[in-house]
Amino acid sequence: MSFNVRVLSADRFADRVAMVLKERTDEPGQRLCLPTGSTPKPVYATYAAGGGDLTGTTVFLLDEFGLTPGGPARCDAMLDADLLARLAAPPARLVTWDTTTPDLTAECGRMEEEIAEGGLDLALLGIGMNGHIGMNEPGSPVDSRSRVVDLHPATVEGAARYGADEAPAWGVTLGIGTLLESRSIWLLVTGSAKAEILAKALKGPETPQVPASFLRRHGDITVWADEEAASQL
Ligand code: F6R
Repeated sequence: MSFNVRVLSADRFADRVAMVLKERTDEPGQRLCLPTGSTPKPVYATYAAGGGDLTGTTVFLLDEFGLTPGGPARCDAMLDADLLARLAAPPARLVTWDTTTPDLTAECGRMEEEIAEGGLDLALLGIGMNGHIGMNEPGSPVDSRSRVVDLHPATVEGAARYGADEAPAWGVTLGIGTLLESRSIWLLVTGSAKAEILAKALKGPETPQVPASFLRRHGDITVWADEEAASQL
């Protein structure tokens, strides 16, 4: 399968991606999956400052840490602080994960059902240093669905960088199979630290050891990379 790689200078990255995201969300009825973390932060800030409007959009949160609700490193808290609280109005609908329920398997099933109602028009993703997408850690099968996952040590460290005061051992995530059913996928990648894993994902073997390598199976994927992240392509 082919994929588009759009390489942008670091100083234009947020502006450009925010602009195309705004064009997309100006179309009413969009169903979007959104990630959190460091990569989308400047895009979200620029999107919100530029009048981004999700009042016609349904937003699905890509994944969530098994952390106590309310903490700053929770994905729902990051999405709120980095994007939603900066908008003039909330999205038409926001679908997040209840990690406090005793039946997490049912919660993941609910997420699959909600997505299946109309599919995802666009899944925005970041890539972890270990090649994960969402919390689909190395070893995740290509046909995986939304589920509870054990976190890789690098992902637990990531949660600490996001301000977690406890170490999450698990999370819930849309599966790789779920994500591959989205009509479009955008992978956002910035910074030199991601250059090696991005090259592996796009040019190395397709393997569960690098979950992002499976994105190449999708017919409509755009990789938005800054020059540093694209330096090994
Ligand atoms: C976050 C997520 C993760 C991150 C990835 C990169 O919702 O799903 O897969 O996209 O860990 O994180 P940053 O952008 O912080 O380097």
